[in-house]
Amino acid sequence: MANLSLRNGGAAARIAVIPGDGIGKEVTPEALKVLRAVAAATKRSLEFVDFDWGADKFLREGVSLPAGAVEMLRDEFDAILFGALGDPRVPTNQHAADILLGLRFKLDLYVNARPVELLDERLTPLRDRKEKDVRIMVLRENTEGLYVGVGGFFKKGTADEIAVQEDVNSRKGVERIIRYAFEHARKNGLKRVCMSDKSNAMTFAHDLWQRVFKEVRQEYPEIDSRHLYIDTLAMEIVRDPRQFDVIVTCNLFGDIISDLGAQLAGGLGLAPSGNIHPGRTSLFEPVHGSAPNIAGKGIANPFGSVLTAGMLLEFLGWKAEAAALHSGVKEALFKNYLTPDLGGIKKTTEVGDWLAEFVSKAFAP
Ligand code: NAD
Ligand code: IPM
Ligand code: MN
Repeated sequence: MANLSLRNGGAAARIAVIPGDGIGKEVTPEALKVLRAVAAATKRSLEFVDFDWGADKFLREGVSLPAGAVEMLRDEFDAILFGALGDPRVPTNQHAADILLGLRFKLDLYVNARPVELLDERLTPLRDRKEKDVRIMVLRENTEGLYVGVGGFFKKGTADEIAVQEDVNSRKGVERIIRYAFEHARKNGLKRVCMSDKSNAMTFAHDLWQRVFKEVRQEYPEIDSRHLYIDTLAMEIVRDPRQFDVIVTCNLFGDIISDLGAQLAGGLGLAPSGNIHPGRTSLFEPVHGSAPNIAGKGIANPFGSVLTAGMLLEFLGWKAEAAALHSGVKEALFKNYLTPDLGGIKKTTEVGDWLAEFVSKAFAP
């Protein structure tokens, strides 16, 4: 997997753990199991502190993101391992907005790195595509855009109601994510960066993206940079995913294109992500949500969470350990040790146990 390492690889790290809701509470313990196993096998130290933030606490105490949480995470932890948030009992999704979007914004985690990587050719719904054909880093702007919650209602509940949701784009915000995309390509020997927007319709916000992209690309002449409108990108990524190494786009389009990409590589059960600010406390979460339709059944796929834990280890600079988690998931796929979403019969915990054993053996003398 591409190098995301941004810290200097110290031997010990402190990780905050927020399992959240639904299957977040089922897959996160499996990722922890695997992280504990890899730390033990390599004699490194990982310290975990659990936080019960989520729908239960919100409904019980009215608290979503507790006061002082942001400063505590920023000052006392190297990284955050996150499950998922979302609960049918909270139809407004208020707690998820407060906690997840709150942490993305308040920790200024401006890079949402969502690698799309086909680990086994049998997993793609595309015809005749091999592993090497589907390998794309989707870099989603993560602190601005339509997600900032600027807007409001006018005459709410009447026949004349108006709802406004503003798309907020700063030059600084657009520039840093575009620059990160080029730097990511350069550091990882990737040849192509595609910026995607909808500047033909969003003539102010995405005009800014156009102008910034044209400026920044000039600093990276060795990289083949290209622009596609988001509708065309959605079509092209399905038609021929081999065209793409790095995709950089705004918050909302990145959300959508990363689910599309996840499905090209086997589905949401496998897709990892990192919410990153280089050099600062960053948050790692699978791309999937709390999946209320399967929560509590013990059948959620833990691969997404384990690959996410792998991204967290890369961020810490623990390259060999990160690679072991990645190999473990590949091997489990190869051996058909799978949960039902991938056609298997294994339980979430069985897959976690298997992966923990795999990584322990990987470092055995
Ligand atoms: P979802 O990702 O929870 O589920 C979509 C589909 O994929 C469901 O059929 C689900 O069963 C399946 N799926 C997802 N992850 C899986 C896994 N690990 N193993 C097996 N199957 C898996 O998306 P949704 O249903 O649109 O949303 C449910 C709730 O989650 C909502 O409240 C939503 O807002 C929230 N959500 C949260 C996050 C997050 O916390 N980062 C991300 C997406 C959605
Ligand atoms: C994701 C989710 C979130 C998002 C939701 C839960 C707000 O879909 O992490 O992809 O849109 O960013
Ligand atoms: Mn999403």
